[in-house]
Amino acid sequence: MRAIVLEKFGGLDSLIYKEIPDPEPKAGHVVIEIKAFGINHAEIHMRRGEWAEAAPVSGIECVGLVKSCPGGEFPVGAKVAALMGGLGRTINGSYAEYTRAPVSNVALIKADLPWAVLAAIPETYATAWTCLFRNLEIEKGQLLVIRGATSSFGQAALKMAVNAGARVIATTRSRERFSMLEKLGSERCEVERHDLSNHIAETKRIDSVLNLVGNSVVLDSLTMLRRGGRSCLAGWLGGLDPIHDFNPLLQMASGVYLTFFGSFVFGTPGFPLSDVPLQRIAEDVAAGLLDVKPARIFGFEEIHEAHRVMEANEAGGKIVVVRD
Ligand SMILES: NC(=O)c1ccc[n+]([C@@H]2O[C@H](COP(=O)([O-])OP(=O)(O)OC[C@H]3O[C@@H](n4cnc5c(N)ncnc54)[C@H](OP(=O)(O)O)[C@@H]3O)[C@@H](O)[C@H]2O)c1
Repeated sequence: MRAIVLEKFGGLDSLIYKEIPDPEPKAGHVVIEIKAFGINHAEIHMRRGEWAEAAPVSGIECVGLVKSCPGGEFPVGAKVAALMGGLGRTINGSYAEYTRAPVSNVALIKADLPWAVLAAIPETYATAWTCLFRNLEIEKGQLLVIRGATSSFGQAALKMAVNAGARVIATTRSRERFSMLEKLGSERCEVERHDLSNHIAETKRIDSVLNLVGNSVVLDSLTMLRRGGRSCLAGWLGGLDPIHDFNPLLQMASGVYLTFFGSFVFGTPGFPLSDVPLQRIAEDVAAGLLDVKPARIFGFEEIHEAHRVMEANEAGGKIVVVRD
């Protein structure tokens, strides 16, 4: 099969088109004919060698058709989504014609949607849904701050939070992007800054923060919460550096909760993929209740341009690659 292989760590030229053997059927696994896949920040980190693990074939998610499933968990020919379960990290991922995913990380998606639209859902919406409705347990009427809201993850969270009746303050580094976030339903926007808690009137009245900017604003996000409020760390748009000289005694806000979510746990005990209503999300999309349309769609032969656009922050939303 034709695959995009990570030959070395580094720039765009690290991704090479190559013929490699098709994945064989294996118990507990599903071989999927890939129709489309989303591009993720994690894959940029893997390409650069900044992530803990990277498989020769990158790609942490895909949508496609079941080619083989020896255990019979999924019918051959069924429309499915696959995400994580080591894809692109410890086992070959989705930048290829076929991939072999663990059964635990595959979900049926019965929806009459174009592949490019379906491909925008799995990783982004599964993660955003889990952060909002499991880690943060957001409720109707609550005030949520989404930091890094113009990212595809941030936009997905914004749309689902607004649909759930939350009030959202969304952050971006550029004022020009305020109107885009307001169109998606944010109550208002703020320019992202490391000390945002000092500059918003609602500090100490915020119910939840979804922090996609990362470690550098963990403490600031806790500072803006009301007593009993929660902050979920789930993105690192501002960089991967750890928190230096962290002294909780001197730096932590009292009476608030910090939680973390990494989608690599999907499919492990405690985090079954079946917990995430991917089917309902797809139905909401088909019914016009949720717009997940990707911002940019590339062909399989355009992986270098797709990575370049993500690295340059040019997309303004989810990037997907379709195979034919
Ligand atoms: N926890 C998980 O399981 C999980 C799952 C998926 C993704 N993620 C993480 O979530 C984050 C978002 O991923 P994505 O794929 O949705 O990203 P994306 O769409 O590529 O994000 C692009 C946005 O990042 C913002 N940005 C870029 N550099 C920034 C900086 N230095 N500080 C603040 N904002 C910056 C830009 O916003 P402005 O220019 O508008 O400010 C840009 O619109 C990534 O860190 C990714 O690794 C985590």
